[in-house]
Amino acid sequence: MALTSPFPRIDGELWAGERRVTELVAEFGSPLYVYDAGVIEAAYRRIEAAFSGVDLLIAYSVKANSNLEILRRLKALGAGADIVSLGELHRCLAAGISANDMVFAGVGKTEEEMEAALDAGILAFNVESAEELQVLGRVATRLGKPAPIALRVNPDIVADTPHEYTRTGHGATKFGIPVDQVLDLYRSAADHPMLEIRGIDVHIGSQIMEPAPYEKALDQVLRLAAEARAEGIDLDFLDLGGGYGVGYDEEDGMSVEDLAAIVVPRVAETGMRLILEPGRFIVGEAGILVTEVLYVKRSGSKTFVIMDGGMTDLIRPSHYQGFHRIEPVVSRDEAAHEIVDVVGPICETGDFLARDRSLQMPAHGDLLAVHTVGAYGFVMASNYNSRRKPAEIVVDGAEVVLARRRESLDDLLLGETL
Ligand code: LLP
Repeated sequence: MALTSPFPRIDGELWAGERRVTELVAEFGSPLYVYDAGVIEAAYRRIEAAFSGVDLLIAYSVKANSNLEILRRLKALGAGADIVSLGELHRCLAAGISANDMVFAGVGKTEEEMEAALDAGILAFNVESAEELQVLGRVATRLGKPAPIALRVNPDIVADTPHEYTRTGHGATKFGIPVDQVLDLYRSAADHPMLEIRGIDVHIGSQIMEPAPYEKALDQVLRLAAEARAEGIDLDFLDLGGGYGVGYDEEDGMSVEDLAAIVVPRVAETGMRLILEPGRFIVGEAGILVTEVLYVKRSGSKTFVIMDGGMTDLIRPSHYQGFHRIEPVVSRDEAAHEIVDVVGPICETGDFLARDRSLQMPAHGDLLAVHTVGAYGFVMASNYNSRRKPAEIVVDGAEVVLARRRESLDDLLLGETL
């Protein structure tokens, strides 16, 4: 069995690595996040191989899945990190990732976050506004530690993503610095004794399937980098951000090879180091959410399959109308397909995993697997309705690691006073 095949079906049963999913649920309960380490490694290696023609740092975008076991494994593969908070810095350091391999992104960094990242020895802050640059300069001065910076450019490109919430590269979003302000900001950074210019950064959105918008963004940052260099402002790295899409249905994800064919020669020519910030591409297809059918309810023209997992475990369907393939963990030969809504137990009409989906009709006690949830799945889970967050396990061949235990009832009361 190929370890890199995401969740193969053998004799009608879904497997994760060399383990039956039914056995994993018997041991760890439902709902359950299951990640396949082989699939993560294969995706990581694919990017590494595609971009091998340039000095490369894969700064894994931690927000996609910040489980320590996954961070530890990515670190072992050679990854750095793209972080956006003190919490992510803390996690990455705990997982053994060196701050010198981390870039700090985000439009709203606090002084506390700046101090901690400076203390840790961060590779660079990807700065998103003139005011942030000023504050960072003050923090660096106070600490007596020069702050390494890159400017995040807003290239004003509308990249086609499945939902407007995941487009970040156009002028009407809060992200990045407008192109016409970038050089002035580099100049003021160059004049500041406690700011060290290291690079240039762009990130245009998430779940992008085509290289074309990256090419446009690359054109802009290369032009800006050349202009900065002409003024004696040198840049060590170009950070092209993340956003490489994966297949949520049967379609293929982004061809990182096609992307690399465009990016590598042009970046190599400049002598700059290339930083990439993939999140979803590395972990997305490596995860399933397994959840159990509690009830089947027929109501007028609708049939609801009511699961023990819902929007608190996986919010993407509800929040972004995100499509996730759903299939029975054990196929039922005899059951016909019907059009159903797969819903959770939470008291919200928006609590669904799929709507109007053709599904082999399941029954009470059956398990369903929701695919492609390795990214932006567990990390976006909540305790709404005082529900305990599910367990997360990592399967590596025949081995299984409980990467995060299911929350306990007492976990729900943590930090509160009576
Ligand atoms: N770099 C920056 C600066 C980002 O803002 C993001 C994602 C990434 C890298 C990684 O993007 P990726 O390679 O994972 O597409 N919760 C949404 C996605 C939000 C993405 C936010 N930023 C979803 O579930 O689709």
